[in-house]
Amino acid sequence: MTDFRTLAADRYTTKKYDPTKQISAELVAELKEILRLSPSSINSQPWRFTFVSDPKLKEELAPCSFHNEEKVKDASHLVVFSVIDNIDLFEKQINENLPEGAVGYYNKNIKPGTEAEIKAWMAHQVYLSLGFFLSGAASLGVDSTPMEGINTAEYDRILNIEGYRTLFAVALGYRDPDDFNQPSLKPKSRIDLNKVIYSI
Ligand SMILES: Cc1cc2nc3c(=O)[nH]c(=O)nc-3n(C[C@H](O)[C@H](O)[C@H](O)COP(=O)(O)O)c2cc1C
Repeated sequence: MTDFRTLAADRYTTKKYDPTKQISAELVAELKEILRLSPSSINSQPWRFTFVSDPKLKEELAPCSFHNEEKVKDASHLVVFSVIDNIDLFEKQINENLPEGAVGYYNKNIKPGTEAEIKAWMAHQVYLSLGFFLSGAASLGVDSTPMEGINTAEYDRILNIEGYRTLFAVALGYRDPDDFNQPSLKPKSRIDLNKVIYSI
C-alpha cells in the first residue's frame, strides 16, 4: 500500500485524459463511498454529489466548462459537487439526522448569521469533501481534475439540480500517457515549507 505522503506527491491535476479508458463499476462504487464518508462540521453533510458518465450529457456540459471543455468530454466520469441552497431544508435535514448537541451548536453559532454567512459555512463543508475526494481517488489509482472553471448555473439547468447549487466539478479517469502536467514531466510547484508552516 502506498503511504499518504507519496500519494500526495504523485497525485496531480490531470489536463488530458485517455478517452478510451473507463473507470470500472467497482471503483465508481468505492468513489461514492469515499464521498459519503467525507467529514464536515457537526457532521452537517449539506451536499449532493452527481456522477455523470452518459457521453451525451458530458457533450452537453463540455461547452459550459470554459478551458475544461476537452477534459469534460474525454474523462470517464464527472462528479458535480452541489450545496443545499435552502436553509429551511438544511435545518430539517440536521434535525432529522444529527444528535441534539450538534443541532444545538448550529443553533447557537451558525444560525444567527446572515443568510450569506450560513451559505458560506455550508459551502466550506462541500469544499472539504473535495480535498478528501481528490486524495481518495488517488489512493484508487484514479486521475482527477478539480474544476471551478465551469458555468455552474448551466450545470444546474442541464442536470436538473433543484434545491441545491453547484459549486464545482471533478473530472475522473485515466491520464493520456503524454499529459504534460503529470509530476514525472512537470515537477510539482509549491511555496517553500518554511514560508507556509510555522512551528512555535
Ligand atoms: C477548487 C479548485 C478549483 C480548480 N479549478 C481548476 C480548473 O477549473 N481547471 C484546471 O485545470 N485546474 C483547476 N484546479 C487545479 C489547480 O490549479 C491545481 O490543484 C494547482 O495548480 C496545484 O496543482 P496539482 O493539483 O497538480 O498539485 C483547481 C483546483 C482547486 C483546488
